[in-house]
Parts: sequence; structure tokens; C-alpha cells
Amino acid sequence: MERKVTVPDLIKRKGVGEPIVCITAYDFPFTRIVDSAGIDLILVGDSLGMVVQGLDTTLPVTMDEMVYHCRMVTRARPRALVVGDLPFLSYQVSAADAVANAGRLIKDGGVEAVKLEGGVAVAETIAAIAAVDIPVMGHIGLTPQSVHRMGGHKVQGRQRGSKVGQRERVIADAVAVEEAGAFAVVLEGMPRDLAAEITERLTIPTIGIGAGPDCDGQILVLHDVLGLGDRVSPRFAKRYAELRHVASEAVRAYVEDVRGGVFPTEQHSFHSLTPVPNKVAAQG
Ligand code: KIV
Repeated sequence: MERKVTVPDLIKRKGVGEPIVCITAYDFPFTRIVDSAGIDLILVGDSLGMVVQGLDTTLPVTMDEMVYHCRMVTRARPRALVVGDLPFLSYQVSAADAVANAGRLIKDGGVEAVKLEGGVAVAETIAAIAAVDIPVMGHIGLTPQSVHRMGGHKVQGRQRGSKVGQRERVIADAVAVEEAGAFAVVLEGMPRDLAAEITERLTIPTIGIGAGPDCDGQILVLHDVLGLGDRVSPRFAKRYAELRHVASEAVRAYVEDVRGGVFPTEQHSFHSLTPVPNKVAAQG
């Protein structure tokens, strides 16, 4: 196995011009697949609520569910750095809760870093988690856990102003996350020029999703990349395969084979090692 990707490795990639390539994964087989493709960072995102559990938002995802999925991913022993997402209300109530829950993802889930959403409002929380040497990744701009405040999954920072979600506030969030000690920050759903300005300004790597090509890295949700879901992919995502179609055709062929008596055949059958009575033997 090639050497494990570490947090310091990714910090060194800031501004080097070699984009950090990140993707989500939620279980063992897909972690093997994405890791063998050379991904730098795997996020066990709370997006699993929407793409795996069939929820409309990420809000109901629990700590227990995150730990369960983190375990499946880390059991695959990927070379990529594994980051576990802190779900809604696992870090907003108190810094003590946040440190304990981040610690659970590390100790029980086996991840190497955690991610949480928010900027100025969660700066002290980021600092508290970082103070116990758990690397933290920030996430600003379109933050899906704030879906009700935003009135939907809407692009942020399009207008000038210092209110939450406006351009100057998004910049203040980025600066707050860096100053609090995050090692990297996800920039989601914001104008390209804003992401470029933040990337220029920060000394930590920025990882974009729906934030244009000028970030230090990119992340996408695996199910969008593979065409696994039946919901429409977001405009910023690129589908590299149509696996839902491939999988559905494969299962349809299996159904036809069993119904048509084409499967299983002799090739898929076992035989007794001791002689069987004639009647049973004749049956098969
Ligand atoms: O939960 C998630 O998958 C995420 C990414 C979209 C960045 O937060």
C-alpha cells in the first residue's frame, strides 16, 4: 500500500497547483473503489442522509449513524485521509458536546479528522476540538444543516453585505474558520469569484463544491459522480457514469433468468459427497 495521506500532506498542497481531490463514501465496497482510483480525501458526509437513507435533508442524521458509516469506511483501510462529518446538533449545543462527539468519530469511527458546518458562529467550537488535537475541516457558504434558514439549498454570497449568507459575511466566516485552527475548509455553493477571493486570502486549503475551479481542491458526492441516485443531480455536479441504469439492467436480467429457468444451471449447483437415495437423486 502506498503511504497514507495525512493532514500535514494536505496542508502542504496549499497553492501548489496540484488540486486536492476529494469525494464522499459511506461504506466498505465503495471506499475500496474510490481509494483505488487515487482520491486524496474521503469524506463520510452526513449527505448519507439524503443519498443513502432517502431523507429530504441531512438534519435527522444521528451520531450513531455517522459512527456506523465511518466504521465501514475505515475498515477498508484507505490510503486517503478519512474525514467524518459531525451531524446536526452534535456540535451546536456546547463545545463540550462537540469535543466528545468529535472524539467518538475518531475513537469509535476510526476517522482521522472531523468536519463541521458554519463560520463565525462555530469558531470557538472549532478551536475547542482542535485544542485536543483532532484536526477539523470547516464548511462554509451553502451549509445544508442550515437549510431552513436559507429557505432551501441555495447559493450563498451572491449579494454584498454583512448579514449571514452575504458576501462579506462568507469571507468573515472563512477567516474565522482559519483563525480557529481548521486545517482546511469546504466552500460550498458560492460564486466562483468569491471562492477565488477566499482561496487567495486563506493560508489553509479550500475545497470547493459548486464553488468553481479556483479552489485548492474539489469534492463531490459519490452518488452524483456515479449516477446512482434517482433524484436530479445538482447543476455543479458532473456525472461520470450511469450506474443506476447499469444496476437496474443487471437485476432485470437476473429476474428474467430465474423466471425463465435459465439460472441457476449445473455450473451454479453443488452435489452431495455421499450417495443419495435414487428418488432424491433423480429429482436433482
Ligand atoms: O455531507 C457531505 O457530503 C458534504 C459535502 C457535500 C461537502 O458536506
